[in-house]
Amino acid sequence: MSFSLPDLPYAYDALAPYMSAETLEYHHDKHHLAYVNNGNNLLKDTEWEGKSLEEVVTGSYGKNIGLFNNAGQHFNHLHFWKWMKPAGGGPIPGRLQAKIVSTFGSVEQFKEFFIQAGVTQFGSGWCWLSVKAGELVISKTSNAENPLVHGAVPILGCDVWEHSYYIDYRNRRPDYMKAFVDQLVNWEYVEELFERADNA
Ligand SMILES: [Fe+2]
Repeated sequence: MSFSLPDLPYAYDALAPYMSAETLEYHHDKHHLAYVNNGNNLLKDTEWEGKSLEEVVTGSYGKNIGLFNNAGQHFNHLHFWKWMKPAGGGPIPGRLQAKIVSTFGSVEQFKEFFIQAGVTQFGSGWCWLSVKAGELVISKTSNAENPLVHGAVPILGCDVWEHSYYIDYRNRRPDYMKAFVDQLVNWEYVEELFERADNA
């Protein structure tokens, strides 16, 4: 198995004005493509060749930094494109919403915690909502790291590398995070991953 770059699930200009076509052209066509190409080169002749992407990510963590960085970012971005949709950020599907409310107190409180995780991630990285041992957890990670390597299943992640927001928001990461949560999140996809993780 080798890594390949999927098309975006929407047009390049479909997320504007919250994420521009220019950002998506650079982010998807150049940054994600580089992770795919570098990942394929670094995967060759390793013990992880032929394994699933998840196995490559968890297996190479702490053992092969170059491969982990590229495979991890490939995994993160595959989901990131699907974690957004045009006119996103609407109501959260029922069972997931109930779990969010029982865990964090309210949807608004959850959004505040999630945005705070992204804003306080120092330097490049991600903030996450994951399922771990049946519970919802918010976390943040550096660079390519993700909750898979900590025994959790990520169901929502936001890319806080500057390449994800600098063209549209310059240094205003909090504004980017707020737009992501309020205008872009594809909650149906988050719900799908939640149900899969919850029934695993
Ligand atoms: Fe990215």
